[in-house]
Amino acid sequence: MGQNPRIRRRQWLGATALGAAMAACKRTAPAAGEGPRLLGAPVRPYGERSEFETATRSLDEERFLEASQSRTPLGESIGILTPSSLHYERHHSGVPRIDPAQHRLLIHGMVDRPLIFTMEDLRRLPSVSRIYFLECSGNSGVEWGEKPARTAQMSHGLASCSEWTGVPLSLLLAEAGVQKGAKWLMAEGADACKMQRSLPLAKAMDDILVAWGQNGEPLRPEQGYPLRLLVPGWEGNVSVKWLRRILVAEEPYMGRDETSKYTDLMPDGSARIFTFAMEAKSIITYPSGGQQIKPGFCEITGLAWSGAGLIRRVEISTDAGRTWSDAGLQEPRLSKAFTRFRLPWKWDGSEAELQSRCTDETGYVQPSRDALIAVRGVKSGYHYNGIKAWKIAGDGSVSHA
Ligand code: CO
Repeated sequence: MGQNPRIRRRQWLGATALGAAMAACKRTAPAAGEGPRLLGAPVRPYGERSEFETATRSLDEERFLEASQSRTPLGESIGILTPSSLHYERHHSGVPRIDPAQHRLLIHGMVDRPLIFTMEDLRRLPSVSRIYFLECSGNSGVEWGEKPARTAQMSHGLASCSEWTGVPLSLLLAEAGVQKGAKWLMAEGADACKMQRSLPLAKAMDDILVAWGQNGEPLRPEQGYPLRLLVPGWEGNVSVKWLRRILVAEEPYMGRDETSKYTDLMPDGSARIFTFAMEAKSIITYPSGGQQIKPGFCEITGLAWSGAGLIRRVEISTDAGRTWSDAGLQEPRLSKAFTRFRLPWKWDGSEAELQSRCTDETGYVQPSRDALIAVRGVKSGYHYNGIKAWKIAGDGSVSHA
């Protein structure tokens, strides 16, 4: 009838561990009139990274105070998610300070029932969380020119990837009752410039989110707090931040930011308008510009993404595009999200040129810079997705090629 000795032993160990923990608490609790005496750092109500980590968003050099954008440090990126603190920024009139209790979203125009939502109304509705990249249409714009950017951050850092949480826009539109003949929306922000972009109704019915969450917490102010559109796979500026109004209409709104900006000037002088989807693109993040490697084993890694859906293949060349090898693609691969790729490599210490080339699920292959310019010319700063090359020098330093 005796107790099982194994259970008794476990109970004894448990009691001892608890006792030790309680004794440690007593030892480290501050006495009256003196500060805490702790062996490590205290718990913090809102955490920060290690003081030894230094990667930051970049600001436009020499334009600190008027900066309207900052770039994600892709060279230091890990996995596929961008920490919210390092998500790129692009603002058209700064970051407004908005009290969520005062914020409203109006849906009106060609609807049976115009609606006004509070943040509380929106957060009560069925929500979804999805991982999507976001990329500024001007990302890599410098690469159209003759002087390519020195680092992955400066060339490709207007792209990031987060988990976004919110309500499908299709649900809100169903509540409002979209009228027959409606084909477009205009989304408007509550920033000082009232950012306005037109979007086809069909995209709203497909996958647009009215998002209030990012990476497990409310949106950051610079990401549209308390509410933004998230338009998967399409140029970042249509994911209108600080969202306050959606107008349902028959025609596009032709707002300032879709005529003065975000149109693509072609070689013959005509301009493309409403070029929404971001084309398939990839970049090697390690080794990349500004980094230093040593001879021996080196895993080549980077990121690929496509506004058309899944990344199907990434090839890597270590000899300036003469031969290519398939990289491994990290699972899960998600539609319209960053895909992390990797290739084991042994650097023999001689000069090398690294390139990556991706293919998406539609079969579209990322073009070379020359092939891209042959079609698009160099008059537009938008939608650059040419292959990026990094040169490894004999001393292991990495620079743009
Ligand atoms: Co465009």
